[in-house]
Amino acid sequence: MDKLIIEGGKPLKGEVKISGSKNAALPIMAATLLTDEPCVIRNVPRLRDTMTMGKLLISLGKDVDFNNNTAVIKPKGKLGHVAEYEIVATMRGSFCVLGPLLSKLRKAKVSLPGGCVIGIRPVDLHLKGLSALGAKIDIANGFVNARVRQLKGNNIYLGGVSGSSVLATANVMMAATLAKGVTIIESAACEPEIADLAKFLVAMGAKIKGIGSPHLKITGVAKLKGTNYRIIPDRIESGTYMIMAAATRSTITLRQGSFNHLIALVDKLSEVGTKVYQEKGLIKIQPKKIIKPVSMTTHPYPGFPTDLQAQFMALMTLANGVSLIIDKVYPDRFIHISELNRMGAHIRREGLSAIVEGVRNLYGAPVMASDLRASAALIIAGLAAKGRTEIHRIYHLERGYENLDEKLCALGASVWREKTS
Ligand code: EPU
Repeated sequence: MDKLIIEGGKPLKGEVKISGSKNAALPIMAATLLTDEPCVIRNVPRLRDTMTMGKLLISLGKDVDFNNNTAVIKPKGKLGHVAEYEIVATMRGSFCVLGPLLSKLRKAKVSLPGGCVIGIRPVDLHLKGLSALGAKIDIANGFVNARVRQLKGNNIYLGGVSGSSVLATANVMMAATLAKGVTIIESAACEPEIADLAKFLVAMGAKIKGIGSPHLKITGVAKLKGTNYRIIPDRIESGTYMIMAAATRSTITLRQGSFNHLIALVDKLSEVGTKVYQEKGLIKIQPKKIIKPVSMTTHPYPGFPTDLQAQFMALMTLANGVSLIIDKVYPDRFIHISELNRMGAHIRREGLSAIVEGVRNLYGAPVMASDLRASAALIIAGLAAKGRTEIHRIYHLERGYENLDEKLCALGASVWREKTS
């Protein structure tokens, strides 16, 4: 197993190219189950998670060919309806094959994904939405079994205790594309990845109105066709590099990055003292030396994304004062606190909040990556810290950051991999 070594304290400089969005690619790849025709998907990041989705599609009977960042997905024999535990358990995103399989085959058996370190992560909203379309669903032996004679459009409220759900919206929207009649989803997720999925479905021939809003109207069609589609840039990768620049007080440039999808972060960074602006199609990040403390609460889009909470907390550990961080999407997504504290941060949990008392310096230490975004927070902390940080279990990073080591080295960071003994 590899560990990542970072010799911290070096400012970064130069330009980094942002990859395609992981969380748009996963449901879009799953959506290819809705057609018998080939689909070409461009700007797919080569990550462990997109490869896992490729493996799942192959196990369901598709032929998946990755060439650089293009995935060509076409039918190969009869489509299967069972998504096995061995694959679904490794990646929660694979649960979004449920809607397309049910819609296309009228039956689906998909392993329950289970919880993970960021929270319990139930699937009640997915099941509520698909049941409202007429599916008979039961859960047995760790699998969701869904059957239907004919999916029928309905009015569905998809709001949950923490607001909308990204993948429940994806599952229900995909199922509704081939249902009979009109489906209205209220309190649909407005995340750009869901809008991207909707645009992909429209390119396949689906009829969807209200894209990007919490009110989606889907008029079922008899058949969907293949298409050629380019995925949006990864806003979480873009945001991670923005926060990294702020924490290391480095002026850097993002190429093909997200700006409009990151307004909540850009706004918070301006309060921190970091200017983020667009110029000639590039995104420039210009931090100040002093990092101002800024409190922040995560919300569904267009609020501050939970997937940037850990990284923002790493930045706040170096602020000139106290900040308060609350995660309203995953209230327990704070596993990174203890690892950041190992590097000299002063963070404590009180109820639903993390209270971050800024320190002058972080110091390199051996730390453990626990999930994808927590690992990104450790990278940011390691780059800003004095001395050497060793990040163990970096396979988490490979799930969501394409060519991370190469990109960091190109920015002038002193980063390399070593085998753990
Ligand atoms: N929720 C329910 N019931 C459900 C589904 C969700 O109560 O049936 C709750 C969750 O427990 C959570 C909230 O609703 O409190 C939002 O969860 P959501 O369903 O939106 O999350 P998700 O769709 O499973 C996607 C991303 C996550 C990202 C969340 C929130 C993918 C593949 N995953 O997950 O990304 O954190 O939306 O924005 O799109 C990551 O990339 O690191 C990652 C974890």
